Amino acid sequence: MAETTGEGAQGGSFFNKERIKYSPEEEARLERQHFWRIIDAFRFYRVHVQEQVKRAERQFLSLPQRHQNLLPNVVSNLARISQCADHNQDILQAIVHNSLHMFENIEYGEREDPRKVRPSTTFDMDKLKSTIKQFARDWSETGRAERDTCYKPIIQEIQRLFPSDQYDVSKVSVLIPGAGLGRLAWEIARLGYICQGNEWSFFMLFSSNFVLNRCEKVNSLTLYPWIHQFSNNKKSSDQTRPIIFPDINPQSLPLDADFSMVAGDFVEVYRDSDSWDCVATCFFIDTAHNVIEYVETIWKILKPGGVWINLGPLLYHFENMANELSVELSYEDIRTAIVNFGFHIEVEKPSVQTTYTENDRSMLRYIYDCVFFVARKPAELYFTEEEEEEDEEEDDEDDQQQSSPPAAKSPRREGTDTLT
Ligand SMILES: C[S@@+](CC[C@H](N)C(=O)[O-])C[C@H]1O[C@@H](n2cnc3c(N)ncnc32)[C@H](O)[C@@H]1O
Repeated sequence: MAETTGEGAQGGSFFNKERIKYSPEEEARLERQHFWRIIDAFRFYRVHVQEQVKRAERQFLSLPQRHQNLLPNVVSNLARISQCADHNQDILQAIVHNSLHMFENIEYGEREDPRKVRPSTTFDMDKLKSTIKQFARDWSETGRAERDTCYKPIIQEIQRLFPSDQYDVSKVSVLIPGAGLGRLAWEIARLGYICQGNEWSFFMLFSSNFVLNRCEKVNSLTLYPWIHQFSNNKKSSDQTRPIIFPDINPQSLPLDADFSMVAGDFVEVYRDSDSWDCVATCFFIDTAHNVIEYVETIWKILKPGGVWINLGPLLYHFENMANELSVELSYEDIRTAIVNFGFHIEVEKPSVQTTYTENDRSMLRYIYDCVFFVARKPAELYFTEEEEEEDEEEDDEDDQQQSSPPAAKSPRREGTDTLT
């Protein structure tokens, strides 16, 4: 079972890098408010989709009768979408039911009238629809190909860097910030590594808690992730096709597996230096207000000699969002900062093509041309003054013996970076 612990403020509407300092009581109040806002969004889903369906029906029924007569299946297909939304709502209710007391260390009180459905914003509805699609990516057979392009390269790299014949992998710690529904972290824990997923969004946290802790029977549950897409369907039935999940029993981790999920903002939660052997980021670094803050945090929390594995695009989440700090750096600029921090880029693939929660029957399909890299925080960073003096003396001797310049000993140096 994956334990989910809450640490720090969840953010949300008050999540802004120019953070206002709130009193602990105010922080707690805002946190509760945010929690219930997301629960409300889960409860409002059916109403929202039914409104969309009714609108589509009204539009269709406003056509001239002779046009309607040419299209005998449209109304029945809309009714089918409506049924699918009802079904999705049942799953969302189950998620909510299991979320109310899910955090080990935080209680959010009770809603005054839990039956009352409060309207949600389009923004929250879009987040919820994305979360439903995330089930396809992480926990269905449908998402296997996508997982193979996104998660497999990361997992293979971890196995190459920390092979089980050379390491006691049960002592190798891997952190996955922005873990989504947790499949990547779960797969790494399944291989015997210590693995912790970190996630900030309540949409994801509620849903990952449900799938990881409450779904045992393989392929026993159904969702309809594509019903919200009214454009670019080749067949009407493409819109209402189901996915089944979970494709594997999430409870089937070995008994001694060390797997956990921690709630909270990555840069707020992870402050302890030299703690992790590996940090793996998948479709994550562009969620930052300031991506350099992520690089800085990763640099700090990695043990000397530890590695950062990254795969993803740079679709900056806060671009064009009013009142939000957003610095949209190119990969080239981020890379410069990574190297200037002192990382050695050991592997770099500038073009790994992947999809993200793809509807593979859609007439519009996005391909992300991702960068993949492995960056190491050098092991030999920390010299005591005595050691440094000794080293300098040795270097001077070497200098006298060799004509080539000595290797720089400063931690902030250019690495011998290679493109592979
Ligand atoms: C694009 S999704 C990728 C999810 C998952 N890694 C995957 O590949 O499917 C980015 C995730 O990062 C989470 N996230 C965004 N900002 C975060 C933060 N500051 N701390 C932790 N998680 C964050 C989002 O909630 C979202 O689930």
